[in-house]
Amino acid sequence: MKLILATALLGGALLAMDAQAAGDAAAGEDKIGTCVACHGTDGQGLAPIYPNLTGQSATYLESSIKAYRDGQRKGGNAALMTPMAQGLSDEDIADIAAYYSSQE
Ligand code: HEC
Repeated sequence: MKLILATALLGGALLAMDAQAAGDAAAGEDKIGTCVACHGTDGQGLAPIYPNLTGQSATYLESSIKAYRDGQRKGGNAALMTPMAQGLSDEDIADIAAYYSSQE
């Protein structure tokens, strides 16, 4: 019961929080080592099949990366992206999303 209550409170807190404020862009910059091969350091895809991440909202980037990691986003070229997301924690993803969303 306590656990359910704690989970509900945490869920409410996360919903209320702005995802952009949750992630740390400076920390994210240190976590994009594998991403840059396809998305670049500034979020500009290095080839047409690699989408630009620059200027997307952190909220969108975060939910996209989680969807790949959790196997919910499939089709297209998702098979290339899924393994890249699988080693990331929720915090890593929030930080990376904050970083790429802050690029111009
Ligand atoms: C091997 C190349 C490759 C690497 C490395 C890679 N990605 Fe991707 N990424 C892709 C491809 C291809 C897609 C498009 C997949 C699809 O069709 O859904 C994609 C899609 C995305 C999207 C969705 C963009 C949108 O507009 O919906 C995000 C966000 C993303 N990648 C973030 C990352 C992050 C963060 C990393 C590093 C942890 C990373 N990618 C590493 C190839 C890569």
